[in-house]
Amino acid sequence: MIARRAHDPRRGDGLSPTDPRLLGNPLDFLHEDHLREREICVMLDRIAAAENPDQDAAAHAAGFLADELPLHFADEEEDLFPLLRQRCEPEDDIERALARLSADHSHAGVETPDLVTLLRRVAEGEAALTPEDRALLTRYASHSRRHLILENAIVLPLARARLTRRDLDRMRLAMLHRRGLDRLIGGLRC
Ligand SMILES: [Fe+2]
Ligand SMILES: [Fe+2]
Repeated sequence: MIARRAHDPRRGDGLSPTDPRLLGNPLDFLHEDHLREREICVMLDRIAAAENPDQDAAAHAAGFLADELPLHFADEEEDLFPLLRQRCEPEDDIERALARLSADHSHAGVETPDLVTLLRRVAEGEAALTPEDRALLTRYASHSRRHLILENAIVLPLARARLTRRDLDRMRLAMLHRRGLDRLIGGLRC
């Protein structure tokens, strides 16, 4: 059974797509995506460990990985990382962290399609999981968690410290445009 969180109405339940109102501050939106990604990791581990995996959870995780994660990676690669490169000071040593994160994104890009196929099979109640399937699920969750720790502990705090209001405005517009929401939503400010 999928658990739901209840708090600030703009904050998600960890299941639905992140509320675009959080784009008032695009860094809050990215942080909320990270909370959601962490929920997905919990689901992947549960599916890997279950005798009879939860089909709804598998369908939900497949949807997130196929539809939302690519947008999140693009938000980081195309908007956040270039702005950090522009704004960070040499002592921030940001390049090493960004190189590591981009390598993770490429690696995830290779593994995600297989994982989505596997999760869709689980969602449709097909075939028992093999040991290799279970290993893929737990490995993916563990790599994603390591990635999230680096982004939450280093990258987002640096972005909050270094990016200007104008940078955040640029990010917000690009992220809205990426989702086809730029004409629908106006007037959001930090
Ligand atoms: Fe991220
Ligand atoms: Fe990332």
